[in-house]
Amino acid sequence: MAVHTQSFVDELASIVGAAQVLTDRDVVAGYVTDWTGHWTGHTVAVVRPADTAEVSAVLAACHRAGVAVVPQGGNTGLVGGSIPMHGEVVLSTARLTGIEQVDPVGRTLAAGAGVTVARAQQAAREHGLDLGVDLASRDSATLGGIVSTNAGGIRVIKNGNTRSQLLGIEAVLSDGRVLTRWKELTKDNVGYDLPGLLAGSEGTLAVVTRVLMRLIVPPSETQVALVGAESVRAALRLVDGLQRAGLTLEAAELMTRAGVALVRGHRDLRAPLDVDAPFYLLVEVSGGDEAQAALFSVLEDAGTAVRGAAVEAGPAHRLWQYRESHTEAVSAESSTPPVKLDISTPLREIEPFLTALRDDLAAAFPAVRAICFGHLGDGNVHVNLLDVAVGQREAITDLVLRRVARHEGSISAEHGVGRAKAAWVGLGRTEVDLEVMRSIRAALDPATMLNPHVLPAR
Ligand code: MLT
Ligand code: ZN
Repeated sequence: MAVHTQSFVDELASIVGAAQVLTDRDVVAGYVTDWTGHWTGHTVAVVRPADTAEVSAVLAACHRAGVAVVPQGGNTGLVGGSIPMHGEVVLSTARLTGIEQVDPVGRTLAAGAGVTVARAQQAAREHGLDLGVDLASRDSATLGGIVSTNAGGIRVIKNGNTRSQLLGIEAVLSDGRVLTRWKELTKDNVGYDLPGLLAGSEGTLAVVTRVLMRLIVPPSETQVALVGAESVRAALRLVDGLQRAGLTLEAAELMTRAGVALVRGHRDLRAPLDVDAPFYLLVEVSGGDEAQAALFSVLEDAGTAVRGAAVEAGPAHRLWQYRESHTEAVSAESSTPPVKLDISTPLREIEPFLTALRDDLAAAFPAVRAICFGHLGDGNVHVNLLDVAVGQREAITDLVLRRVARHEGSISAEHGVGRAKAAWVGLGRTEVDLEVMRSIRAALDPATMLNPHVLPAR
């Protein structure tokens, strides 16, 4: 990386204004450490452009100076993908906060990349619509961030991931050129799917500045059940039974006895059910009384596979809090920053994977506590490892990700690769696949100026 001179910082200030170039160590602290507390870097400056033209000018200046850039949204990522570990400039989208339009007829939302998920949801709800994506970090996570990481969350089972909600995009290439693919069309089959390519590119291909998102019609009523299940297989059978009964699943989340106990201790909550169970399934289905009756009937048919259940009409915050508090509880209760490994396997492999993982960990890392939870309907398990000694992070990550590969899974289901998993991308991709990804990156960012240390490095 080139030497950062005062004149370079002055050039950035001439583009965005001196107040929007942050260099004071205390002020930049929140931009150089990630949410988990594991990744802490340093930066010559955090730059906060106000619009696309300023983003373009900032990137062109960095390109000329040979200074790499790490784009950053709400800094809620869990794989170190938006932290400047090598002194890169941080380009914050915090000021790209305009909600330009909600079109209730075409059901789209056009907004700046820095708009939070919660604000976008609120804007859509004012028109009786909703964003198809929802996740626990909704108050801080931004639209640009969820697009750049192709975030998942709790509604994937119903609406698909963020990529499938993205209709159009405006993004700035590393040299400052602005790429716009912005069509409010369901069908537009001309050439490569560039918005789809930028979704999940983790800031390596371009900096997302504006997004055009699909909106969904939310269910007017839902029913939520928290179910104590005998096994993962029983929980999966229940999910299958609900779908076969004609119910629409809005969410299907898995928790374990250990995870619920951790959350209860952390939040001082009562037990969710009056019976204990090794696994807990939280399902939300759309519909009113009829849906509730169908839900009860599927639960009854499950026999002893279901140990007990609590059913409430949505939004049922009381039941959801056991699931939504997992991330916070894991971070607070671990003696070291937790190792967070977001993986997926085919549904049939979830139970064998979890059993084998438990045995692997007990043999190699007996002092580590594993809390596994996640989006069961998507085959997505969040493996959270608590109390991992600093020197053991890499070895335990290697153990888990190799176990995932043996069960035909993916080493990243929804959080992305970032820095945390860059060394393991070969576990899920062939050499030709990696070559094609490197070629795409080289075509869009030939000098590797954007987030150079995430994904497969060139
Ligand atoms: C979740 O589903 O709660 C998130 O992906 C966050 C996490 O894994 O901690
Ligand atoms: Zn998740």
